[in-house]
Amino acid sequence: MAIRKILTYGTPSLRQPSKEVHKISKKIKELVKDLLDTLYSQNGVGLAAPQIGENYRVFVIDTSSGDETLNPIVFINPKIIKKSGAFISNEGCLSFPDIYTDVRRYKNVLIKALDRNGRPFVLEAKDGCLLAKAIQHEFDHLDGILFIDHARNRFEVEQGLAQKHFPPLEPDKMIDESELEAEINESLMKEQK
Ligand code: NI
Repeated sequence: MAIRKILTYGTPSLRQPSKEVHKISKKIKELVKDLLDTLYSQNGVGLAAPQIGENYRVFVIDTSSGDETLNPIVFINPKIIKKSGAFISNEGCLSFPDIYTDVRRYKNVLIKALDRNGRPFVLEAKDGCLLAKAIQHEFDHLDGILFIDHARNRFEVEQGLAQKHFPPLEPDKMIDESELEAEINESLMKEQK
């Protein structure tokens, strides 16, 4: 058990794709424990293995808050098998202390993965709930994708990064999400009616 150092934006390994886990070895079990210890030490919602310098396809999420019982969920070799709907999600990331911005996300996701004992499970997260946001955010980390790549307001992100002395935004990493954006605008219009 150990609280590990969280790598911050600008560390090259955060941009590297992570490898599949082939065996739930002692090393992977330790990694899961370290991820949870580190997540709880920061009061975070999710943490992915590449954020502590281990490029394996593993992340952990706990959406419990306040006095609620802890509810850790471990995802090993996750696959998002269905996604639908679109919404605006305000997010931060433990690798970007004090930076928050609106990003585009799917409202509903269906994910399959292995748990910490290597048993497969399927989980559905709906209606843009915290779990739905966290799954998409953490899943991205495994492919070297960061939340700022989904930002709706590039200018705001650029300013935030500069203020906190982070490296600049990488425009070539920004994801073209015109379809998601169109769906978001459509639902915003409906709300206004
Ligand atoms: Ni993150």
